[in-house]
Amino acid sequence: MNSSSPDAAQTLAADTALVRSYLDRINSREVEVLSDAVVRDYKLRILDALHATKACLVAHYYTDPILQDLAEESGGFVGDSLEMARFGRDCEAQTLVVAGVKFMGESAKILSPSKRVIMPTLEATCSLDIACPADEFSAFCDAHPERTVVVYANTSAAVKARADWVVTSSIALEIVEHLQSQGESILWAPDRHLGNYIQRETGADMLLWDSACIVHEEFKARGLADMRALYPDAAVLAHPESPSEVLAAADVVGSTTQIIKASQTLPNKQFIVATDRGIFHKLTTLSPDKEFIIAPTAGNDASCRSCASCPWMGMNTLPRLLAALESPKEAAAVEISVPVDTAAKAMVPLQRMLDFAAEHQLKVQGKA
Ligand code: 13P
Ligand code: SF4
Repeated sequence: MNSSSPDAAQTLAADTALVRSYLDRINSREVEVLSDAVVRDYKLRILDALHATKACLVAHYYTDPILQDLAEESGGFVGDSLEMARFGRDCEAQTLVVAGVKFMGESAKILSPSKRVIMPTLEATCSLDIACPADEFSAFCDAHPERTVVVYANTSAAVKARADWVVTSSIALEIVEHLQSQGESILWAPDRHLGNYIQRETGADMLLWDSACIVHEEFKARGLADMRALYPDAAVLAHPESPSEVLAAADVVGSTTQIIKASQTLPNKQFIVATDRGIFHKLTTLSPDKEFIIAPTAGNDASCRSCASCPWMGMNTLPRLLAALESPKEAAAVEISVPVDTAAKAMVPLQRMLDFAAEHQLKVQGKA
């Protein structure tokens, strides 16, 4: 799985086929366009149901803007994957509703085993999670016992259970820098673009698993250069899951929260953004006087199923959320469960990350 191994291209092709076949099974375009009146009705019923069940809604920046608003209006939270995990753990609610993808729900459950964690759908996964099966990953680790295992949060609970550290994109650089300063060599999984980026930035000795996010991989440096010529005053903000040429052309590379912070602190009035377009809701709400332009992707909406829009995040719909809250049968079907021993093992590297984040809070928050 090392990115330089001769099998890497073959493996990636197999992973891509796996992800594509998964996408074929879900109908990400099923999202019906709801009228304003219907949306208002859903919002009211969801707010009532959250209140009645004393549940807390935690949403990712990539989800539908209406869900993001609902999370905030109901006293819940919208954030990046690190902040979602922290908020879920710290809030008092005994039921967490996680609008995002499955690894986010699993992280919430691992950190709060006594809480009930439900999601609008358990089908909402992630190409990185799919392309890093626990058994293959475990064999990869077994083959390199001398390396410290660092996994991205976008992995299953079983993969986390095999790790020494879990990181999210908002804290990956700091943790790898720390490990490097301790003289440790690293086995990294699963996102090769983020792994390569950290390797370049820190110079750490990293052996990489070879997968990618199907959304960020679509951003293209050539199109970005053309776009920069059209918007010469714009700053480019990129998520580190994007390809290296895109990151090299970016003014700021960071997690979703770091991208949002950069949009507020940089003096530019225009921004070209290389990440899921769901983030535009927060960007435009916080800076209504600024212009945000999506970075160019390989295809267009007619041919590309992941052009700056994660199909799995898109599965978090209002009807699914309402059904999970109103129907006990539906709630049981979308409840996250993680085997107790797996959760206990995965808790160790997750907690290590949270402890590290707490100790280095100022540095992490100041990143962007
Ligand atoms: P963040 O941790 O930056 O929110 O990213 C999560 C993710 O899935 C990006 O594609
Ligand atoms: Fe996974 Fe990419 Fe979707 Fe994020 S945007 S959840 S990394 S597929």
